Amino acid sequence: MAGTSERQRSGMASDEKLGRVTSDGLEPITSFDEMGLKDDVLRGIYQYGYEKPSAIQQRAVRSIIGGHDVIAQAQSGTGKTSMIALSVCHLVDTSYRDVQALILCPTRELAAQTEKLILGVGNFINIQVHACVGGKSVGEDIRKLEHGVHVVCGTPGRVFDMIKRRTLRTRAMKLLVLDESDEMLSRGFKDQIYDVYRYLPPELQVCLVSATLAHETLEMTKKFMTDPVRIPAQREI
Ligand SMILES: Nc1ncnc2c1ncn2[C@@H]1O[C@H](COP(=O)(O)OP(=O)(O)OP(=O)(O)O)[C@@H](O)[C@H]1O
Ligand SMILES: [Mg+2]
Repeated sequence: MAGTSERQRSGMASDEKLGRVTSDGLEPITSFDEMGLKDDVLRGIYQYGYEKPSAIQQRAVRSIIGGHDVIAQAQSGTGKTSMIALSVCHLVDTSYRDVQALILCPTRELAAQTEKLILGVGNFINIQVHACVGGKSVGEDIRKLEHGVHVVCGTPGRVFDMIKRRTLRTRAMKLLVLDESDEMLSRGFKDQIYDVYRYLPPELQVCLVSATLAHETLEMTKKFMTDPVRIPAQREI
């Protein structure tokens, strides 16, 4: 299975493993069938009603499920969050109940939508997800997290709160996703994102997804990522 063990820190090694990993050279994969996704995830994708991957999905899924750090930029409504959902479903090992993927998003609504997408696409893998957001009952968060989930999606403040309480354990985390990262920074979540990041294991895959990429966001990626694949390819960061 693809995962942190396949994560390659060196660009050369990555090139050998996945073909040409620079985003200039990434051939789009035009069918979900050919992405190397687990069968049960594929079934979930089709049952959810997706027939064909969108442009960003065609270009970025392979790198994400191959364990690379990825910066994926595409306009609003082009399937970015769905891409995160299906990649997370592939990467998570549901045979044990530790939080393996953390998705930070700027609003409660987006966290709820992400939870729904993961539950939809992950219908055949018995995936447990919790949306951990401000404004909801802390007691309910604690109950859900202590029961054990595979994925947490949430807003940075509440997620950090749960980490500090040691209710949200980060030991088994292998993937951090920053969805709508520009939006998170513009809402003033920068410090909380860094706070969360400090508690995560060093061997962590990081994916950043956004419609726009501000300078501040790219600065953050320099701290969080090693040799990221950037899609679409633009100037070096
Ligand atoms: N491959 C696909 N086939 C059909 N519908 C899709 C596909 N991928 C995503 N969608 C649908 O398109 C809509 C937008 O998808 P999604 O929310 O993933 O995009 P996004 O880029 O994250 O959007 P936003 O910029 O609003 O966050 C959703 O209704 C989603 O279910
Ligand atoms: Mg989205």
